[in-house]
Amino acid sequence: MKILFLNGPNLNLLGQREPGIYGSATLADIEKKVRDRAKKLKVEIEFRQSNWEGELVDWIQQAREGFDVVVLNAGAYTHTSIALRDAISATKVPTIEVHLSNVHAREEFRHKSFIAPVCVGQICGFGPNSYIVALEAAVNING
Ligand code: DQA
Repeated sequence: MKILFLNGPNLNLLGQREPGIYGSATLADIEKKVRDRAKKLKVEIEFRQSNWEGELVDWIQQAREGFDVVVLNAGAYTHTSIALRDAISATKVPTIEVHLSNVHAREEFRHKSFIAPVCVGQICGFGPNSYIVALEAAVNING
């Protein structure tokens, strides 16, 4: 099994960015945590980040070739992007929405996710562990 982890805008700044909300772990720290667990679960992962909406669209489209599941932290594009939503529904690769923070406990504009209706499910609020929960969900996606 091969799982593609995609991270959207500003997630490259984790560690420095609003640590009260996002904590002190960098994206590299999170990647390491995910890699360690993936190794134990004997699944392959790829981990990418982009600040560009179009690049995330390209990667979701490319996931059709060789990936079984996408885990997507779309950052702020979650709340704005019909293009990401359309890419997910067009490609039909099962996609899990993930967030570090509990978006539902934050500003009202974060309560709306354009991608949630086309994702298998949403995981949020567990900090870096949201990614581990998402990995476990991905591994067990077919029951
Ligand atoms: C986030 C939540 C989004 O609302 C925000 O725009 C982010 C990070 C999270 O992981 O908690 O950039 O996706």
